[in-house]
Order: sequence, then structure tokens, then C-alpha cells
Amino acid sequence: MCGIVGYTGSKRAVDYLLDGLATLEYRGYDSAGVAVLSPDDHLHIVKCQGRVAALRERCNAANLTGTTGIGHTRWATHGAPSDRNAHPHTDCSGRIAAVHNGIIENFEDLRAQLRLAGHEFKSDTDTEVIPHLFEDAYKGPAQGDMVRALRNTVARLEGSWSIAVTCADRPGELVVTRHGSPLVVASTPEGAYAASDVMPLAAVTSHVLQLDDDDIALLKADGSVTVYDAGGDLVREPKGLDIDWDASAATLGGYSDFMGKEISEQPEAIERLLKDRLGEHGIEMDELNLTNSQLAAIDRIYVVACGTSYHVGLIARKLIEHWAKVSVSVEYASEFNYSDVLVTQNTLCIIITQSGETADTLSAARRLKGMGCRVFAITNVLGSSAAREADGALYIQAGPEIAVASTKAYTAQMVAAALVALRLALANGQMTQAEVEKVFHQLETVPDAIREVLNRSWQDKQVVPIFRDAPSALYLGRGTSSTTAYEGALKMKEIAYVHAEAYPAGEMKHGPIALIQPGYPVVAVVPSDHVHDKTVSNVMESKARGAKVIAVATDGDEQVANLADHVLWVPQMDEYLVPIVAVVHLQVLARYVAKAKGLDVDKPRNLAKSVTVE
Ligand code: M6R
Repeated sequence: MCGIVGYTGSKRAVDYLLDGLATLEYRGYDSAGVAVLSPDDHLHIVKCQGRVAALRERCNAANLTGTTGIGHTRWATHGAPSDRNAHPHTDCSGRIAAVHNGIIENFEDLRAQLRLAGHEFKSDTDTEVIPHLFEDAYKGPAQGDMVRALRNTVARLEGSWSIAVTCADRPGELVVTRHGSPLVVASTPEGAYAASDVMPLAAVTSHVLQLDDDDIALLKADGSVTVYDAGGDLVREPKGLDIDWDASAATLGGYSDFMGKEISEQPEAIERLLKDRLGEHGIEMDELNLTNSQLAAIDRIYVVACGTSYHVGLIARKLIEHWAKVSVSVEYASEFNYSDVLVTQNTLCIIITQSGETADTLSAARRLKGMGCRVFAITNVLGSSAAREADGALYIQAGPEIAVASTKAYTAQMVAAALVALRLALANGQMTQAEVEKVFHQLETVPDAIREVLNRSWQDKQVVPIFRDAPSALYLGRGTSSTTAYEGALKMKEIAYVHAEAYPAGEMKHGPIALIQPGYPVVAVVPSDHVHDKTVSNVMESKARGAKVIAVATDGDEQVANLADHVLWVPQMDEYLVPIVAVVHLQVLARYVAKAKGLDVDKPRNLAKSVTVE
């Protein structure tokens, strides 16, 4: 987690640093800080607990005019959120400052060694060892060479990091590096930039340079960026990446919050993803980098992901097993990394990750790759680690997702999973081209169905009072709808802080039914599918115990209308595609409840969007 930025050039550094940090705030918002070199070559540090908006006020008061600086927005791992633990951290002289994203696993040993050597520490963070190690290296063996000093510093570290360092002795220079945490840099006529991801850079350039793990980049005020690899050799042609994201895509554009904006962007995101995907020979998906015969040979698939993306994996399993008849295991990446794995030479791994930077998911992918598995990524972020490390990557093209709660990436990732399943089914002969085309045309109706659900958001608004004061709720569903229940409950928990327990509807009477008493809210996802009647029975069981039932049901379902206290209606859809539409009601509902409780829907407490530590 954490976001870092850096700039050296001809403009006021603090302007880019603050704007960049505001864009990266989704990565953590426990504290924020900047270090800017003043024109008289002193380091000026402004940092505080809380958000970038609070930092901006302090920076305005401090009138920072320097043109070289670094910045950080923090998600606390080591040390409580506080002014003291906010980055940047400095060395003993106060002339070297560093920001860091990641975890330094051996920081306690390093601290002890540095203390013995006379260094004094001011925070509880793992990060603070970095400027002190840099200080020793810079003044010692590196003899004032920033790149060598950073190389010596990282040679002592264990863990993961992206780091930016500035030094008052070297005005107009910054050094940055990465190892397991993301970092991109850019060279422009106005100066050289660094950031944790491409979003802050979209405002200043359309071309960024990607660093490989252990590369060190020297950024200079003339705009130059020089990259050295882990061995210290010059990288003559660092990997470039064109950014096609319009910087305004990361702004509110008239909406009161990003979650609301992103929910409403879902139809267009899916239309973009489907565009030109149906070709003469079925689903066009060169990104898979697999021939038809390689696809046909796949005998087992691991889908590995976390959080909402894991829920996409559950849907992917249903679709792949139903259409392509290939056996699929869906694993939480954090569990998978410590479990036995059974792979054959024909096993495919699919990682699903909006950010492409989730540490557990990346570790799982690396593990499977190491076992000879092909890894395919479904991701949203261009140039992300997942996309770079996988053998093939399908970008969902949903545009920047800024709200911590994932919405448009969830539905677009489900569509991507459907496309993969259809591609596989045609290749291995489980579906004919005509059958694939039929499903594809049904997929094309999803955006309008979502628009229709959004038009019915008054139905979600009506049930807000039930949840506003409820300490807890039960979410039920069967088959693909159990996943919709899981995802709806996750949304309700993470942004509205209502404990929501999701369960396969048929399992309810094996325990959770004990929760139900008169007035207890039960959300039943019960579209018209082949398990409809079974779920209806479970709704009746809930009603019999006094539950207040909020059903998500298909237009025209009189039976559910007569049974439930409230119905959130969805248009008629194929039962394998209905999860992409039905979940939208539950996204909208969670957002309304959070807003009714006066909560910040975009930045829920304790969370960060991108979980880059294990
Ligand atoms: O970027 P990823 O898709 O890998 O992120 C995985 C989870 O951290 C993420 O989906 C998380 O669960 C969201 N906050 C859910 O809304």
C-alpha cells in the first residue's frame, strides 16, 4: 500500500507532489507528507496524520517554492497512523529524506545495528532505516554518488519496496528504485517525475518508463531519467508505456463521490470491453497468447485472486465449467500461497486483479509460473505488475477505479471471465461457433440491463432505513447468485460498516438461521434461474421466522413479489449472466446506506485500495 511521488525540474515541486498524492490516496490515507528542497538547499518537510487535503493546507501555509521533492501517502503497517510516523523520514543530519512503499522485513536488526553505530530514530516505522542506511553509504563508500548510495542501501534490505530519496547536497537530483512494489518514472521537458502508478503521470505526460525490480533511476532537473539495472549497468532503452487514460477520467466530473461515478460508468466500461471481440472465428482474444490446440489441451484451471476479484473468480468457475467443461479451482491468493498445489503441464492459472499489484495475487502467480504453469492476468491497470509478469494479460479497460470499493472493475472482470470461458469452449469443442455467438449477443444486452437497474435505484433508496440502523444482515443466494450475495455483503460491510453475512441459501438452516428474529434483514438474491424454487423455499423459511426480506428478483416474478417485503427488480437475463446485472442493486444499496450514515464512501476506514503487502 502507500503511494509515492517525486519530481525534479523547473516547476514548483509541491504542486505535482500534492496533486499526485491526491490521485494516489486510494493506496492509503492514514497520513501524508512531502519533502521539498528549498532554493537555499535545505530540506523542508511537511507531514501530518490524515489526508492529503490536510497536508495541502499545511503546505500552502509553508509556501514551498523548491523545484525538487518527494511525497508519500501512507497506509500504516509498522507504527500507528500519526504525524511522527508519517513519511518522509530523514537521516540524522536532516539532509536526506526518503519515502517508501512496502515492508522492510529485517528492519529490527538494521535498527539495532544503526543504533549501535550512533544513529537516532524518531519514528516506529520500518522505513526509517532507509535514510540512515543511505546516510552511511552516501558519506562512506558511495562518496556522494546518489545512485551508488541507494544501491548500497537496498543491498541491506529484505522485503519489498519502492523508494524515492532526495538529498539537500544534490539539488536537482532524485534517486528511485523498486523491488516488489510498483514504480514508474517519466522524462519531460519540464522535469523528471516518479509515481507509484501511471495515474499521477497522466496529468503531465502520455509516455512513462517502467522500471524492473532492482533498477535504480536517477532523475535530474533537466528532465533526464537514467536507469541502471541491478548489476549497475546502464539500461539503454528502458521499457516505455503509452498511457491512453485521459487525466480527467480520474476526476469526479460532477459526481459527489468516485463510487457513485464508477457505478454509473459500468455500462460503458462493458461496451468498451465487448467492442470488436466477436470475430469471424469466434471470440478475439490474442492476449491469451495461446493457440487453439494449447487451449484445447487445458485440463485444469486455477483462478487466484483476493476480495472482490475473488468473487469474480467464483463466477469464472461457474462459466468455465458450464461452457468449456474444464475443472476450475478458485483460491484466495493469501491461502493459496501456503497450500499444496497440484499442476500438470496443461494447467492454466488465471489471476484476477483490478490493480494488478495485490501482493498475495502476484506471489501466487510467481509460484505457479515457477512450477511451469502458464499465467494469464485479467486486470485493469495498464503496465501493472500482474500484466507485466503474466504470459498474457486481458485489460478490462474500465478506466481508473478510485473508490476503494470495487464496482465497475467487478462487473467488467466478470465480462472478461465470460469471454475467456467462451474462447476456451470454442477451442476445446464444447461449444459451436453459433452457440458462442448467441451468448456473446446476450452479453451485449448487459450494459442496457445495468442502465435499467440504475434507473431503478429508487427501489434501493426505499430500503435504506432497514439497514441504516441494523447491526447485521444476512445475504443469501444459490448457484451464481450466492456469489452476488457474497459481493453484496462485502460492499455493505466495507463502506457502510453493517455486518453482513453472506451464505449459500441452502446452507442457512445449518447455522445462520439462528440469527433471524423478527425484523432481521435478509437480502435474498433470487433471480429466475434453475434453482429459483429452492431459493424461494429458503426465503419462506426466513419469512416464517419474522425476517424482513429484501429480494433481488427478475421482472414479473409474482411469487417473490408476494413473499418479500421489498423487491429490487432486474430485467430478464440469461441465468449465467444475471450476476453481472443483479449485483448493481447491491452496490447502489450499500452506497446509499453509507451516505445515509454520513460515511466517506470512497475511503472507508482501515482500508486501502491496493493491498501491496502480504
Ligand atoms: O486490485 P485487486 O483486484 O487485486 O484487489 C483485490 C481486493 O483487495 C479488492 O477487490 C478489495 O476486496 C476491494 N476493496 C473490494 O471492494
